[in-house]
Amino acid sequence: MVSKAVALGERAGAQAALRVGVVGAGIMGSNHARVLAGLPDATLVGIVDPLPEHRTRATEMVGCRAFASLEELLAEGVDAVTIAAPTHLHHEIALACIARNIHVLVEKPIASTVEEGREIVTAASRAGVTLMVGHVERFNPAVAAIKQAISGEDILSIGITRVGPFPPRMSNVGVVIDLAVHDIDLIRWFTESDIVEVQPQLSSAIAEREDIALLQFRTASGVLAHINTNWLTPFKARNVTVATRGKYVMGDLLTRQVTECFGFKPDGSYSMRHLPVGHDEPLRAELIAFLRAVRGEVPAVTGDEGVASLEIAIRCLENPPRPAASSPPRKGPRRVVG
Ligand SMILES: NC(=O)c1ccc[n+]([C@@H]2O[C@H](COP(=O)([O-])OP(=O)(O)OC[C@H]3O[C@@H](n4cnc5c(N)ncnc54)[C@H](O)[C@@H]3O)[C@@H](O)[C@H]2O)c1
Repeated sequence: MVSKAVALGERAGAQAALRVGVVGAGIMGSNHARVLAGLPDATLVGIVDPLPEHRTRATEMVGCRAFASLEELLAEGVDAVTIAAPTHLHHEIALACIARNIHVLVEKPIASTVEEGREIVTAASRAGVTLMVGHVERFNPAVAAIKQAISGEDILSIGITRVGPFPPRMSNVGVVIDLAVHDIDLIRWFTESDIVEVQPQLSSAIAEREDIALLQFRTASGVLAHINTNWLTPFKARNVTVATRGKYVMGDLLTRQVTECFGFKPDGSYSMRHLPVGHDEPLRAELIAFLRAVRGEVPAVTGDEGVASLEIAIRCLENPPRPAASSPPRKGPRRVVG
């Protein structure tokens, strides 16, 4: 394992590449492996998945080695892993890696429960290894441009829409844990404040778990925020608006267009401008940040932040979703998620 002290003491450019493994060869894990394979600062040791067809797909896509179990990967010697297995396995896999002093990036959400998330944080802290959580949206250049535009502003309200069609892959979580947790993290990050009040409205139109969520929040700093998310919109949309005392910032996270209105005048007129937005692939930026964190920087998304966002998402679920009320009975069975 690379010791942080040694790594920090080395001059930039003279450091050995970190040996990194990926756990889970599904959609996200294959992308982690693809990106890691192209980073000069990392050597991709391989990817783990119990399913032979997923291992084959990953090796064909990335050209890396694949292992059927975590033990086989760890036996090769790794400094760090990224965990992109199903969420209910994050806890077990993260603890197994941390116990061997291996640095971990855990995909979002950090775990299935707050208790499990906290155990991961505590274990990483005790072992002195880096823990980062994969809230990749923070690395979206449009999100970074919004964050920069509102820096130092007096934020009043935030609205986020994250909608799309039903996911082709079934998972055992609903739309709050799967999608809204991204935006809960963004609200906390934009405001640099904790969410203290939660008013959720949930409904299940097609799935057994919630597939529509309208979530309202108040932060400790007094910002009002809402998230509109669902799996019932025929197209994907991801939009963020932030109202501050001096500006109104609008961002489309898919087209990466970010615009701000400013210079409000008493006659109702104002100015508008498009803001410069970068082109980085968010996952690449996230994994570079993780490697930097392994070498000693503060993780861009800490374990505590991952737990805090999960805790708010779980609070939103405290009242079970109601079936969509006034809709006529749907043809065919309801879709069982999980
Ligand atoms: N950051 C994001 O934007 C984002 C997007 C999608 C998913 N995710 C997260 O990534 C994780 C994986 O999601 P996905 O969509 O790639 O799911 P997926 O179902 O496509 O992939 C999960 C993979 O893990 C494998 N797996 C199962 N048990 C395993 C084990 N014991 N060890 C190793 N691998 C195992 C499965 O066979 C599968 O190939 C989830 O936690 C999800 O919340 C994050």
